Amino acid sequence: MLRQTLIRLSQQEQLRELATRNVVARSIARRFVAGETIDDALGAIRELNGRGMSATLDNLGENVSSEEEAREAAEAYCRIIRSINDNGVNCNASLKLTQFGLDLGEAVALDNMRRVMEAAAPHDTFVRIDMESSDYVDRTLSVFFDLWSTHKNVGVVLQSCLYRTAEDLERVIDAGARVRLVKGAYLEPASVAYQDKRDVDENFMRLTRTLLDRAAYPAIGTHDCALIDAAKEWTRERGIEQSRFEFQMLYGIRRDVQAQLVAEGYNLRVYVPFGTHWYPYMMRRMAERPANIFFVLENLAREVRSARS
Ligand code: FDA
Repeated sequence: MLRQTLIRLSQQEQLRELATRNVVARSIARRFVAGETIDDALGAIRELNGRGMSATLDNLGENVSSEEEAREAAEAYCRIIRSINDNGVNCNASLKLTQFGLDLGEAVALDNMRRVMEAAAPHDTFVRIDMESSDYVDRTLSVFFDLWSTHKNVGVVLQSCLYRTAEDLERVIDAGARVRLVKGAYLEPASVAYQDKRDVDENFMRLTRTLLDRAAYPAIGTHDCALIDAAKEWTRERGIEQSRFEFQMLYGIRRDVQAQLVAEGYNLRVYVPFGTHWYPYMMRRMAERPANIFFVLENLAREVRSARS
């Protein structure tokens, strides 16, 4: 119930505007977001690289409403890709197609993505297309496969909460492309997605096994220790080398587990979001773990106390 409410609130425009201007909300966002500028993000990435972790950079933003905004978002990504390479950090890029105009038409998003892929080509920077809610899956895969026919440094994300994912996974594996598997962060109806967490987790494990056995350098994107342990166990049993896959986690979440995986010799990539459009991203992180609400309340209480004193 709380999860549903928080995900619904993540889509509220007025709340977004209020939160973005609020000092407390901004300081809370800093737990999950590396900062508002590319320099903040590069600082966070250098620190992660120093601890043996690679990164994937996300310039926060989604659901733009004009072609101009979509083009600007693509140009910003071209600059980001150049910054990644000029600064020599161990990092690739993650992005959302609605930031590049998917709501305005597949052709708009594809056109903007081509620009980004051209900027990435000289450095062979890998570009991962995040997966958004189920309404976007067909269009996202269509843009992805179109790009894949000409650019082999593009990958995609699939979500274990959706019934359709086993089939989608086969298509991506057959093409030889790279997948990041996640559980799925959006509110989905029972007509398309498992509603029980146990089913989502079981499907995650089934899909993980398929990826580890047959896919090109898959990314297992979760903080769930039971699933991480099961994946490790599977690779040990099947003799799958650590170099053939990576774990991925979000910036600021389960840093203890992140460090442990690196200490054990696994490849670990941290998803580093930055930028001013952090509100929906932060709300989805709150929805994943309602205990985060207490962290927010604590911050608010501290703010009220310091305003009184
Ligand atoms: P689960 O939610 O069961 O959490 C397992 C444990 O992790 C919790 O018990 C807690 O300890 C910790 N944890 C998880 N979330 C936390 C949080 N917000 N705050 C504090 N602790 C937390 N989704 C999507 O739909 N499209 C996408 O493209 C992506 N991309 C993506 C990239 C990467 C690298 C990751 C790790 C995740 C995504 N996601 C995503 C989000 C994903 O779908 C999912 O919502 C979150 O990863 C939370 O699910 P877990 O697998 O961590 O399990």
